[in-house]
Amino acid sequence: LLTNKLYNVKQSLMATIPKQRVSVIGGGGNVGAATAFALIAKGVPAEVLVVDVVDKAAEGQALDISDASFMMPGTCRKGTFKEAGQSDVIIITAGARQQPGEPRSNLIDRNYKIIKSIMDSLQPIKSSAKILMVSNPVDVLTDIAQKTSGLPRKQVIGSGTYLDSGRLRNELSEITGVSPTSIHAYMLGEHGDNQFTGWSSARIGGRPLLEHPKMKDINLDEIYEKIQRKAYVIIDAKGSTYYGIGICAATLAEALLNNTSQVFPVVNYVENFGCYMSWPAAIGCDGVEQSFDVKLSKDEDKKLQTAIAAIKDACSKYE
Ligand code: NAI
Ligand code: 2OP
Repeated sequence: LLTNKLYNVKQSLMATIPKQRVSVIGGGGNVGAATAFALIAKGVPAEVLVVDVVDKAAEGQALDISDASFMMPGTCRKGTFKEAGQSDVIIITAGARQQPGEPRSNLIDRNYKIIKSIMDSLQPIKSSAKILMVSNPVDVLTDIAQKTSGLPRKQVIGSGTYLDSGRLRNELSEITGVSPTSIHAYMLGEHGDNQFTGWSSARIGGRPLLEHPKMKDINLDEIYEKIQRKAYVIIDAKGSTYYGIGICAATLAEALLNNTSQVFPVVNYVENFGCYMSWPAAIGCDGVEQSFDVKLSKDEDKKLQTAIAAIKDACSKYE
């Protein structure tokens, strides 16, 4: 009886706590809907708003995803741009996607205009809001979103190479027989053709990954190529990628809402490089808490410089 009473008190107290709000802009599309669904399916106790320039698409996705929420702590409904601007986390998945064989960097002209108009529609943006950019090219669009939103740099991040690093960890798991969650390895630099593998910093069980006996005869270039090309293979086969990024974006939103201080390779402003790029950072409720100095080999450092130059060059055209 006492346990029941305590449970009821807890439930009524919880009902008085306002749910944190996460808005998904572009939620009428594949990536946005996968993200909103992942937020609900992961049990994030948030009010998820689906927002899209195509109102009917947002309505349909929100109604469908709300059907998935009946056993979950989160809720889902269609929202407006104004409501989204007042959200705790604003996830942006709106815009053009690649055609088969097209690099992500090609999308910049189309998506620059879309992101700028979204930032206008969101105003006034809540001063404590965090923006999570997902649309491509994500490194450059994160920079544009920060400049046009007026939010501090640490409150604007992008999903970056978190997805690519997950792809890498799955691959390494198959080779070594160790769970991907116990493999610490990153794809770094740019979520695009200039990404590179941080082999020197990769660890498994506290040891350098490359010293693992099963890694001895592995062709590292082949693994890199497979990870870097994976999105192209999926887009060629089915037109777009969305399940993997949906889970990644929902996990990052969860870190922002729950102040987890987990380290992710996400797009964040790295002072040492003077630009936004995909680089490990600890993420909490204020956004970026810490960025890390990753140990690189000479060859990796060369690839890093190429990525920095490409991102800076693209950003300079949109200042
Ligand atoms: P999609 O075509 O399925 O959806 C795009 C949605 O954006 C549509 O519903 C469209 O109505 C909406 N939209 C367009 N302009 C808008 C505006 N001004 N305001 C609000 N909504 C607007 O495309 P998909 O597959 O969902 O891809 C979306 C973006 O995500 C692309 O740029 C794609 O490259 C990117 N992406 C990024 C990934 C990453 O790892 N960062 C992974 C996969 C895709
Ligand atoms: C991905 O890597 C296309 O950026 C998208 O799946």
